Amino acid sequence: MSRVAVVTGGTRGIGAAISKQLKAKGAKVAAIYAGNDEAAKAFNAETAIQVYKCDVTNAELCASTLKTIEAELGPVDILINNAGITRDAMFHKMTLQQWQEVLNTNLNSLFNMTQPVWGGMRDRGFGRIVCISSINGQKGQMGQANYAASKAGEIGFVKSLAQEGAAKGITVNAICPGYINTDMMKAVPEKVLNERIIPAIPVGRLGEPEDIARCVAFLTRDSAGFITGATLSANGGQYMV
Ligand code: CAA
Repeated sequence: MSRVAVVTGGTRGIGAAISKQLKAKGAKVAAIYAGNDEAAKAFNAETAIQVYKCDVTNAELCASTLKTIEAELGPVDILINNAGITRDAMFHKMTLQQWQEVLNTNLNSLFNMTQPVWGGMRDRGFGRIVCISSINGQKGQMGQANYAASKAGEIGFVKSLAQEGAAKGITVNAICPGYINTDMMKAVPEKVLNERIIPAIPVGRLGEPEDIARCVAFLTRDSAGFITGATLSANGGQYMV
């Protein structure tokens, strides 16, 4: 059976790799993006994956976009909450705006995107939800009090929802990527990247988006029904829990 999958932040970086991987596994994929029309257009031209513009911080827009997707592709079986941003600053320099932007995009979006599909998954007795958290939600990170709080919150969300969904055939899992070779890394000063971050990764390199996409493919298979509430680390050995 062809499953319908929604991927937020699905046209760039880790999300783009996830969208492609799920399509390759036979899913009908809807890739949601926030604002970069050019990248979304190029992604659609390259992959033929349908793209939908939607700000995941806007609850009403999420609900209406998901309605449109369900009308066009069918009921949502797989949801990948991947959209995320950083606004890194040492806490003594962090502004309220930096705090709120990160919490709204990374954490509040989980409610906005998940609640509209949750009832349908419960009714149909099947669902696969994967939230892309972070190594820094597990271990904390200087300069990321906002981001680490949002990503640790995501793990709490996953563990709670996993308990609610278990009897209804819905699995809810978190993946905690380490440092991955995407646009997000461009905000990290080169000196910090080369002298602090890469030397701390035992495999000696950044991860690639496909490293994470393969984890998503594994967790969203129909046959993965016994894995729920899990936190899968994919970080090159940088942090072992
Ligand atoms: N690991 C280790 N040390 C770090 C560090 C890191 N990730 N980030 C900063 N530091 C250290 C710096 O090397 C520096 O140390 P020294 O004073 O000994 O040289 C100290 O912290 C202060 O850093 P800056 O001089 O750069 O101070 P700043 O105020 O100009 O900037 C900062 C601070 C905004 C945190 C900046 O250093 C930065 O962006 N660091 C990267 C933070 C980071 O790791 N972000 C993760 C981005 S990727 C991501 O978020 C995806 C994911 O899920 C993993």
